[in-house]
Amino acid sequence: MSAVLDVEATVGATSVATARRTEVAAEAAPTTTIAIVLLGTGVVGGALLKLLNTPAAAKVRLVGAANSRRQQTDATSLASRSLREQLNSQGAARDNAILLAALDASGAASKVIVDATASTSLASRHAEWLALGYHVVTANKALAGGELPSWRALQAALANGGRYGDSATVGAGLPVLSTLRRLRTCGDSLLTLEGVFSGSLSWLFNQYDGSRPFSALLREARKLGYTEPDPRSDLSGEDVARKLLIIARNAGFSLGTDEVDVQGLVPQSLRALGAEAFLARLEELDEPIAELHAEAKSRGCVLRFLARLNQRGRARVGLVEVPLTHSAARLYGTDNQFALTTTRYNTQPLVIQGPGAGPEVTAQALLGDVLALA
Ligand SMILES: NC(=O)c1ccc[n+]([C@@H]2O[C@H](COP(=O)([O-])OP(=O)(O)OC[C@H]3O[C@@H](n4cnc5c(N)ncnc54)[C@H](OP(=O)(O)O)[C@@H]3O)[C@@H](O)[C@H]2O)c1
Repeated sequence: MSAVLDVEATVGATSVATARRTEVAAEAAPTTTIAIVLLGTGVVGGALLKLLNTPAAAKVRLVGAANSRRQQTDATSLASRSLREQLNSQGAARDNAILLAALDASGAASKVIVDATASTSLASRHAEWLALGYHVVTANKALAGGELPSWRALQAALANGGRYGDSATVGAGLPVLSTLRRLRTCGDSLLTLEGVFSGSLSWLFNQYDGSRPFSALLREARKLGYTEPDPRSDLSGEDVARKLLIIARNAGFSLGTDEVDVQGLVPQSLRALGAEAFLARLEELDEPIAELHAEAKSRGCVLRFLARLNQRGRARVGLVEVPLTHSAARLYGTDNQFALTTTRYNTQPLVIQGPGAGPEVTAQALLGDVLALA
């Protein structure tokens, strides 16, 4: 805009000013090279919709959006700032074929399906979509961190030239998978992996010092939005196990889900309850954790919920004690930490650390993977 005003003031000739204005407008005009369909307009999908309205996403055109019940392909509705709210009451019934047809009709060079859900049934379609020539960008871990045959089907589908943007599946976009791939491209290989892969479990054990019951901290974490509405999703360790599988598989370890030893924090007696009943009995978690904490403290250690992969491919997830000198003992807030020992980083691990949860950073990871397709 300031360029247009300068031209008008200096030259004073309307035709020149108009020509320059057109030129500036053309420079600023978005060139759509990427069309996307967004599946999931929850916390992460909602944050991505906001990012799509920024200049960084000028090359990206949203041609369809859906939640679990409704979808929209109408351009005016998709451009609305209240699209997310509208989808709660308006829009067509869910039909993936219509969303794919909107991608086909876009004429864009890259056609991308962005999965911002946790849906296993949508994840099971990723390989099929790749085989059909679409790219897939996902925050959904259910495929890459799921059953091994499905991971293998994904690798086979990728051989057809489709791209799978998975940055958001681990560490909410911290550069873990990209770093690992870069190292592998250079002939380096992962030897061991260790870290804190859950923002909520990181926060809980960074805070816990025995002065407040674990259940009180858990209620606070839930209130702050750090845990899932049913905190057993976090406490079970299953989400951490999925992230461990994703990293391990990307490093060349063909691990099955049954090859990760997961020691979750939910006792058998609380597993089958409804969410409300579980929340009413959180105090039952207190004593076992207080005992483990006291034992750890007596040895000068603290508790951390770690994921570990050793050189023989043995994968474990659970609560362990670590000395105060351990890097995981010095985490802050909801930080994640990934310590990679590789053939070349073998005296000290390569450590990637930072906020490992949050809608803005996760949505940014999705956008980054989408833009990388241009
Ligand atoms: N939140 C984070 O900080 C974070 C960080 C990293 C990764 N992730 C991952 O990102 C994904 C989304 O997380 P979130 O926190 O945004 O979850 P969320 O708020 O629960 O949103 C999930 C969205 O998915 C929609 N959905 C479910 N099944 C669908 C289907 N079959 N078709 C279309 N939409 C469907 C839901 O629709 P309804 O509204 O109709 O239920 C909802 O809009 C998850 O896989 C999560 O693990 C989240």
